[in-house]
Amino acid sequence: MGSLVRSLSAPGTVRDTLGRQIRDLRISVTDRCNFRCTYCMPKEAFGPDYEFLARSQLLSFEEITRLARAFRNHGVEKIRLTGGEPLLRKDLERLVAMLAEIPGIDLTLTTNGSLLARKAAVLRAAGLKRITVSLDSLDDRVFRAMNDVDFPVSKVLEGIDAAASAGLGPIKINMVVKRGVNEDSIVPMARHFRGSGHIVRFIEFMDVGATNGWRMDAVMPSAEVIRRIDAELPLAPLDPNYRGEVAERWRYRDGSGEIGVISSVTQAFCNECTRVRLSTDGLLYTCLFATQGYDLRALLRASASDDALAAAIGAIWSVRADRYSEIRTAETAALRKVEMSYIGG
Ligand SMILES: C[S@@+](CC[C@H](N)C(=O)[O-])C[C@H]1O[C@@H](n2cnc3c(N)ncnc32)[C@H](O)[C@@H]1O
Ligand code: SF4
Repeated sequence: MGSLVRSLSAPGTVRDTLGRQIRDLRISVTDRCNFRCTYCMPKEAFGPDYEFLARSQLLSFEEITRLARAFRNHGVEKIRLTGGEPLLRKDLERLVAMLAEIPGIDLTLTTNGSLLARKAAVLRAAGLKRITVSLDSLDDRVFRAMNDVDFPVSKVLEGIDAAASAGLGPIKINMVVKRGVNEDSIVPMARHFRGSGHIVRFIEFMDVGATNGWRMDAVMPSAEVIRRIDAELPLAPLDPNYRGEVAERWRYRDGSGEIGVISSVTQAFCNECTRVRLSTDGLLYTCLFATQGYDLRALLRASASDDALAAAIGAIWSVRADRYSEIRTAETAALRKVEMSYIGG
């Protein structure tokens, strides 16, 4: 880290070895979750003996905000709070209020929706503008099996309604598609949210972490998702909202809204990746599929100056060469990558 800190680069201009800038910061505010989604925190790996981080290891809200300001100075425009389940972090609305004060930041949050009916209004009042809710099926049997804690669809739908009433819409709904598990939920999901103003995004099952038993044959390519929906609800492609947008956008030809597909397995978008991730305990990861991070908490707790923090971030980014999804093989998929719940989905 010492030599990294010394190779200072000017805030706002730093580019990695592939010419990409930092635009998007994801912050994991807790590594804990009340769900055990089979593709993310399977029970076998995240059982009673699993050691989650201790409270003293977590970044405090003040530490997170200080880092967020340093990232803002490097050109970050969007911050997503995630986890684990971010709404499990006590007083999260206090952090939202602190981050909402940073000028030029588009602040959003991804949640499983389980606590949203209770929390939507306070989050909105604290300054949150938008939200993404994950929901993998409207079929209660399928959803309960996928979250593996028997959580019902109806409660997530209540959370989505509460968020919309609180002014957090249009809401993005994330659905991870696993072949043979919830593929029959694709068209009903599209149909349910068509015309609501909310945007469903169908996500390819990814080989994140090292415990979810990922196999290529469980991935349903986005092209097939689009084919299935288009056969019943005709679609036309839309241009991206901005360069580097992860979701590929499609609109219903009858004007009843849009959907997105995220194809990080079959159509890697590494060449435009402007994302960086901050783990719950303050390690910086420059790729979702990383095996190691850079300890920014150590710098914070060693009373590093703002300049030193900014220099460290710039130096880490400037040597970044990650393009995992473009070079994925069966061997890389088996690497001991860090878990998504810890670095933030
Ligand atoms: C890790 S979660 C954290 C936030 C929150 N707990 C939630 O589920 O929305 C963030 C997103 O990552 C997605 N995700 C988790 N594991 C995945 C995997 N193996 N492949 C694709 N997406 C995954 C989830 O479905 C969710 O939409
Ligand atoms: S996807 Fe979200 S809700 Fe599901 S286990 Fe992972 S962190 Fe929890």
